[in-house]
Amino acid sequence: MPFPAEIRTARLRLRRPAPEDAEAVHAGYARDPEVSRYLSWRPHRSLGETRAAIAFFMQLWDMPDRRSYVIDAADAPCVGGIDLRMTDDGRGVAFGYVLRRDRWGQGLMTEALSAGLDAALAVPGVWRAWAYCDVANPASARVMEKAGMQFEGVLRRWALHPNVDPLRPRDCRVYSRVRGDPPRPADPAPAH
Ligand SMILES: CC(C)(COP(=O)(O)OP(=O)(O)OC[C@H]1O[C@@H](n2cnc3c(N)ncnc32)[C@H](O)[C@@H]1OP(=O)(O)O)[C@@H](O)C(=O)NCCC(=O)NCCS
Repeated sequence: MPFPAEIRTARLRLRRPAPEDAEAVHAGYARDPEVSRYLSWRPHRSLGETRAAIAFFMQLWDMPDRRSYVIDAADAPCVGGIDLRMTDDGRGVAFGYVLRRDRWGQGLMTEALSAGLDAALAVPGVWRAWAYCDVANPASARVMEKAGMQFEGVLRRWALHPNVDPLRPRDCRVYSRVRGDPPRPADPAPAH
């Protein structure tokens, strides 16, 4: 597997999921309908559902083209997750990500996604790292911009987000960073 086993940033650690993460993931975000509103899965109704999801993500870890990291903060485990999926030709990596609601707005996902993009684009043969979000999810669009990705357009009727509409796929904004693009712009200096 070309992706690192662990990624560290200033405030976060991205690592392999473990069975004992289930309770923190369930209580922290998997059961929260606000968190999964624009995602492809419905809020988990039981801890068992989260346990099964964790077991699935652990299996993915052994596959050559997938990696689902759990995100730990310094003061709390499992505040979120980030998923990398390599395309069949090995030239692209698609990203998905999620964060506990009480941690939103602190720049954490920008930090995690930037590090994930760096790791993906450092893999020999990978030229493109990309992700999409529902057109009604501006916080996610902003994260991608802040992580140095470029807006490419709207993919019409691209993804089913069942919490918004269980029948009709939603239009999604797509963003990418490609090999050779500048990395994440520096954070602005704090105002005095
Ligand atoms: C989207 C998500 C990952 C963002 O994580 P985060 O750590 O809060 O993101 P950051 O703090 O790095 O940045 C959020 C940015 O969005 C902006 N933002 C938040 N809500 C917004 C809104 N309703 N409209 C416009 N911008 C918004 C914030 O102001 C911030 O930008 P700024 O730094 O320029 O002010 C998080 O909200 C989440 O997990 N949501 C649920 C799951 C999800 O939607 N995942 C993405 C699927 S594509």
